[in-house]
Amino acid sequence: MQREQVPATFFLTVLNGKIHEKTYLCNNHPILFVMNDINWSDLSFGYIPTDYNVRCYFRNGAWGELEISTSENITMHMAATCLHYGQESFEGLKAFRGPDDKIRIFRLDENAKRMQDSAAAIMMQQFPTDRFAEAVVKAVELNKRFVPPFESGASLYIRPLLIGTGPKVGVSPSDEYLFIIFVTPVGPYFKGGFKPAKMVIMREFDRAAPQGTGNIKVGGNYAASLYSGDIAHKKGYASVLYLDSKEKKYIDECGAANFFMIKNNTYVTPDSKSVLPSITNKSLIQIAKDMGMKVERRPVLLDELESFEEVGACGTAAVITPIGCVDDADTGKSYVFSKDGEPGPTCLKLYNALRAIQYGEAPDPYGWTTVL
Ligand code: PLP
Ligand code: COI
Repeated sequence: MQREQVPATFFLTVLNGKIHEKTYLCNNHPILFVMNDINWSDLSFGYIPTDYNVRCYFRNGAWGELEISTSENITMHMAATCLHYGQESFEGLKAFRGPDDKIRIFRLDENAKRMQDSAAAIMMQQFPTDRFAEAVVKAVELNKRFVPPFESGASLYIRPLLIGTGPKVGVSPSDEYLFIIFVTPVGPYFKGGFKPAKMVIMREFDRAAPQGTGNIKVGGNYAASLYSGDIAHKKGYASVLYLDSKEKKYIDECGAANFFMIKNNTYVTPDSKSVLPSITNKSLIQIAKDMGMKVERRPVLLDELESFEEVGACGTAAVITPIGCVDDADTGKSYVFSKDGEPGPTCLKLYNALRAIQYGEAPDPYGWTTVL
């Protein structure tokens, strides 16, 4: 191989005070380098600034146009209802770069609908689903360079947020709202990724009330899980496994993911008014059926837990996280599902099937992905 030195000039594009792109002109051919100092394979589930976010305001009874912003900040009234009365809902979805270099967004229509359900439940103005889709695509397209490469196994997390911004002092819904989407590249939610995690049951804490807001995605549920989550983390657990708040007899879900169990070629997941209807779980149910498994969505007694062959957590952030062991902090009982520290075979099959659709390595028979 021969190396030739050619004269070159270059131009810089600066964004948010940082060098964003370098374009070299070599023999009059532009060569573009996008500047990134992200170690894609080593990402955790954290916030990394990206170039743009997308916003839309509801004022004077109508949603405005989608706006593109480079600012990471929002300005709002100090009496905004989201700050005082929790008028806030968020969503979480992901974009994946496939081996064909195409970017696929997973089931964005489902997130759009769920955000509408959340909005209706806490008296917020609903954001139209078609505009939700438009905003998600725009946010991903504008930040394309942050969609991690296929080989890294990482993805771009998309975070839509809807907040009441109008001032109220009495407890009542806002007249003004802000819808905003930011994106950030992420790695695994639970440390270790697809490695069996440890969960803990602690009956003294509830995440959501039986007829409360557990089935919608509002910030208050997560605030309610912070204290117990912190205790669990300090004791070395990945998460709390919540039981039903009324009787403490049934299994609900983890703080940020649904729960599923496997036995006798059957996929079982709790049916409960206080768990979030997970889009990942819904997808796994379909995948399990397509694999010839039986599916049961029903109340699951804690007493049944030891009878399962494999258990796991699932969600956009968690993907599938196999659960190696659940400790009951109140009774001292341990439910062990992985003795060798490895995921079970069914969790592995489900995980591979889901990832293959998300990354475009397998056909997408239900049209779950939006390809950019
Ligand atoms: N349960 C809770 C409480 C969650 O926060 C999430 C995350 O969104 C899930 C379950 C999983 O839902 P999904 O698969 O739609 O991300
Ligand atoms: C998600 O999986 O998208 C979530 O919202 C979970 C968590 C980060 C709150």
